[in-house]
Amino acid sequence: MPEKPLEPDPARSEGSAASARTPLAVRAGHAGERRKKKEKYIRGLGVGKDETAPAGFVFTALVYAIRFTLMSLGLYRRGMQNARNLRLERRDIFFTNLPAALDGFRILHISDFHFPRRFPKFAAAVGELLRAVEVDLCVVTGDYRYGYFGADDHVAEHLKTALAHVKSRHGVYAVLGNHDHFVTGEMIEEAGFSVLYNEGVLIKTDGGPLWLCGIDEPHYYKCDDLDAAVRGRPDGAFTILLAHSPERVRQAAEKGVSLYLAGHTHGGQIRFPIIGALVSNARCPRNQVWGRWRHKDMIGHTTAGIGATDVPVRYNCPPEAALLTLRRDTTAEQQETPQKAVERD
Ligand SMILES: [Fe+2]
Repeated sequence: MPEKPLEPDPARSEGSAASARTPLAVRAGHAGERRKKKEKYIRGLGVGKDETAPAGFVFTALVYAIRFTLMSLGLYRRGMQNARNLRLERRDIFFTNLPAALDGFRILHISDFHFPRRFPKFAAAVGELLRAVEVDLCVVTGDYRYGYFGADDHVAEHLKTALAHVKSRHGVYAVLGNHDHFVTGEMIEEAGFSVLYNEGVLIKTDGGPLWLCGIDEPHYYKCDDLDAAVRGRPDGAFTILLAHSPERVRQAAEKGVSLYLAGHTHGGQIRFPIIGALVSNARCPRNQVWGRWRHKDMIGHTTAGIGATDVPVRYNCPPEAALLTLRRDTTAEQQETPQKAVERD
């Protein structure tokens, strides 16, 4: 079924993002300029010089406190091993409004690689995990860099390695995360991936038109523009939104988004039995921190991500690549049928 890996297929898609030949900086317009200014300001703070440098003094103190506690309890090594135990998770997602012909449409949703410059073996390990994956669509919801500072010229190469064996019928689409710089997106796009920066693309599937759109990360830089992302969308098109974090849920539902795909939270990374994650680093309800969720008529999926950063450990929250299958929920139709029959009688 899949036709080719990696390269987006312009013949199968059209819309604002399909103008892949237009440079990202031009497409991003004012929002992109604002983003770059914010990045420059942060870099100018002089907090750090490479990818392992701390993001801030308070945050650094917290990170070291967590590390010290875990080491004291003898749990640190186990947590690091957990973070390397990559998994491919299969999840069905049900919709009442899914076009019948999209029933069974498969999406590889992967996020938060946090490729460490010094450990290229991580990208190779992801590549092995995804070696036999064949999907209709592959989406990546940001955070390619490990930290916040330093050069990120290794990222595109690592991403190519990680997705080298994925066969995606409609290509690979990506959005930026809070760790990424604008130039990260430019490098990713030069490597053959399509970045959706406040824009959408019409994908011609066998089940009719599908509007795939993406926004800049909403957590930190806040240069996202959902209006722009749905501009040009045909009426009634099934709509998938890529956003780094689940922090534009209410707005997306109001825009008629059908499926909201996000990462950023890492599922909490450290989860306790029963109570779950203590920290999600996102302004969202707890049920949106990991896995499938619903907001009004919109379905969402927040992946725990495949990488880790700051404290490179995981507990009760394995690193994952999510293989999602869209399913048509006919329960409501089945319930309606007898009622309609009664009305006819
Ligand atoms: Fe992340």
